[in-house]
Amino acid sequence: MAKTVAIGVTGSIAVYKIVDLVSKLKKDDIEVVVMMTEGATKFVSPLTFKTISGREVLTDLWQESQEWKVQHIGIAEQIDFLLIAPATANFIAKMAHGIADDFLSTVVLANTAPCLIVPAMNSNMYKNSVVQDNIKKLIDYGYKFMDPDSGLLACGVIGQGRLPEIDDIYTQVNRLLFPKKDLLGKRLMVNAGTTCEDIDPVRFIANRGTGKMGYCIAQEAIARGAEVILVSGKSHLEPPAGVKFESVWGAEEMCRVMLDYQSSCDIIIGAAAVGDFRIVNIAEEKIKKMDGHSEKMILELAENPDILKTLGTMKRSHQIMVGFAAETQNVLENARIKLSKKNLDFIVANDVTAEGAGFACDTNIVTLIGRDGKIKSLPKMSKEDVAAAIIDRVVELIKS
Ligand code: CTP
Repeated sequence: MAKTVAIGVTGSIAVYKIVDLVSKLKKDDIEVVVMMTEGATKFVSPLTFKTISGREVLTDLWQESQEWKVQHIGIAEQIDFLLIAPATANFIAKMAHGIADDFLSTVVLANTAPCLIVPAMNSNMYKNSVVQDNIKKLIDYGYKFMDPDSGLLACGVIGQGRLPEIDDIYTQVNRLLFPKKDLLGKRLMVNAGTTCEDIDPVRFIANRGTGKMGYCIAQEAIARGAEVILVSGKSHLEPPAGVKFESVWGAEEMCRVMLDYQSSCDIIIGAAAVGDFRIVNIAEEKIKKMDGHSEKMILELAENPDILKTLGTMKRSHQIMVGFAAETQNVLENARIKLSKKNLDFIVANDVTAEGAGFACDTNIVTLIGRDGKIKSLPKMSKEDVAAAIIDRVVELIKS
């Protein structure tokens, strides 16, 4: 039976982009019901969405129902998926607080289908703690979010807040609407974020890892039915709902925690940016500068454990291990060396200097290199899609 997707469109300049999404979903024979807030109708006429979706656009809680008796309840009962895109800060706040004062917010409260929220707003609004708290609250309630893209915003500011590409939203809707449950019964551990090595009570050494790639893998694995342990160093991201979350600080602690779970896992993925060195003598008190006499401050470093290599030495038969290779030169060659040194089944190689790849970036350009020599180069894609491609490869290996 054809699926029905309801799209709640709220008042952002990005509203016009959703027209294309409706058209793509319709081409897949998906029934699309568009609901607009009053703000959204200021940017694009409901007639545009009506023409593309082929059905009445719902804007008014009090409009006479053509198809259902109590329209907002009727819709909530009939839809398979609810997408809120673009989602304004105001609408997210209403959702987080259970406010139901227009058609769309009423449907949101009555809805029991999976719901994906795609925020789009000014970057300072997005970063605002109130907005972030509301997002966190909704994630805890089980709502799914897509992070906005970074770039030039309509307000002229460069920052995070753009609606993600429509193709990426379309892929994500499909993934959630037709979830594959091919990791049911499997236990997957992934590490993420940057490790931190203390210098003194106030300073530490970290790196550019944000955690995004590892968190996307955790999210994808949960969606596909796995039991997921996310071992995370420092990251500003919210752990996906449903994961077992282990927060760690340094590489040694990350290694210890992962060793505890190692033997019970079917799949281990190393996506963390693990610092290779730690400070030999951590100062007990804050190191003071010596007013011009400390221009050659020397920190003695010791090598950290190589976590994947350590886990690789105790790899169980049928256990699948995956690593990343962050390279700046000779990408494939260096990645192959790491693949064999760490006893991995495949490695995800990326040139971190390429535009649209690597750290602090929403996209990645990677090549999957298998122990069997199989190489698959993927185009630039969102980290969500890279995570899906990695899990697809894991599933292929499980089945082989
Ligand atoms: N890794 C790890 N423990 C470390 C360092 C890296 O488990 N101490 C893992 C990373 O999570 C990644 C893979 O090993 O999955 C490769 O990490 P990368 O930083 O690319 O390489 P390194 O092994 O650290 O080697 P180098 O820094 O010399 O390139």
